[in-house]
Amino acid sequence: MRQAAPRCPVFAQRRAAVEPDERRTGRAIWRPARPVRKRAAREYRIKDRNVNTALSTPIACEPIRPTRIVPSLSEDVARGLFGAPRTLPPKYFYDERGSLLFDRICDVPEYYPTRTESALLQRIAREVIETARPERIVELGSGTSRKTRHLFDACAELECHPAYAPVDVCDEVLVASGEALSEDYPWLDVRPFVGDYTAGLGNLPRRATRDLVVFLGGTIGNFTREQATDFLRELRAMLAPGDTLLLGADRVKEPDVLHAAYNDDAGLTAEFNLNLLRVLNRELGADFDLAAFEHYALFNPLESRIEMHLIAMRDQTVTFEGLHDSLHLREGENILTEISRKFTRAQLESMLEDAGLRVVRHYESDAHKFSLVLAEPD
Ligand code: SAH
Ligand code: TRP
Repeated sequence: MRQAAPRCPVFAQRRAAVEPDERRTGRAIWRPARPVRKRAAREYRIKDRNVNTALSTPIACEPIRPTRIVPSLSEDVARGLFGAPRTLPPKYFYDERGSLLFDRICDVPEYYPTRTESALLQRIAREVIETARPERIVELGSGTSRKTRHLFDACAELECHPAYAPVDVCDEVLVASGEALSEDYPWLDVRPFVGDYTAGLGNLPRRATRDLVVFLGGTIGNFTREQATDFLRELRAMLAPGDTLLLGADRVKEPDVLHAAYNDDAGLTAEFNLNLLRVLNRELGADFDLAAFEHYALFNPLESRIEMHLIAMRDQTVTFEGLHDSLHLREGENILTEISRKFTRAQLESMLEDAGLRVVRHYESDAHKFSLVLAEPD
């Protein structure tokens, strides 16, 4: 039996993008997603505890209008999976199940980035808030916002009460996290935005306020060098004088440590990687047999990046109800599902400078495992 349709609007949005009449006229490709159905936040483990079930504060996500046409899921599949090398954009990992899996990855002992960045953010939060004095905190790819809580704690201590605008592709995680945050920080005005940040940031509502934009988790490393620079330039364009950016990025380190982080013993990373095939089965009526694939992640020192692959363990043909094509995979063939680039201090700073951002403070964790860089428009 087919699973129920997803509620993650990135998919609905992608479907809207291929409406033939709209493509012909070249008009806006976006239309509002269905109203977000609320889901109990209890499934999301936030701040090391289970969030209570009955939530009082209703949170609604506002869709962000793309500023440019991005490929639909079927177009990404047609181009990415049928081409060479076989690859897909990472945003498709994050349906509700994917977001839950990622949140669990954050707690596995081998996955050092979350706890390292979290400890660093806790240490510097006061200074960041004192420097940025934000009236609004905008967070890109916020997920469960678990680390951002350190900023809210510092805000509370400093009696600085910004609004919070988390942006994510996954509406379920935005709603659940938003409700939990509203409970824990009653002063916090949470206004989530749902959408694809690669489709443009220009339609995020501007305010005549000081923004602190945060982009954590090393997610910048999931972009290629060119994509990262374009993204940061676009981000730079949405900043006004007085606004700041806090960027989290993972650093180059011993390959063994990196390897373990993306090949945890509990197999959660493997589950997460395979979730992409589940998404394709559900969204495009594909018939991937998940048992015929294995997760394979390796550190490529020449590119200074982790590469996440799914390897076909036998010859196979995958059919897609939603596409007029079948995919033939040979035993041993791979799909590159994600890259996670690891930076040096100098690379990070020059990437920001190339995008028109001046480094205000570069904070590093113990042993330079992770960086948080505070920057401002130059
Ligand atoms: N910031 C959190 C989560 C990182 S995982 C942390 O540091 O732990 C990446 C997050 O970005 C997920 O929540 C995912 O849903 C979101 N995301 C990935 N691609 C996206 C895109 N193109 N647009 C908006 N959100 C995206
Ligand atoms: N942004 C995270 C990272 O690069 C995403 C991530 C962690 C991830 N583990 C993963 C993505 C496993 C795909 C598969 O560290």
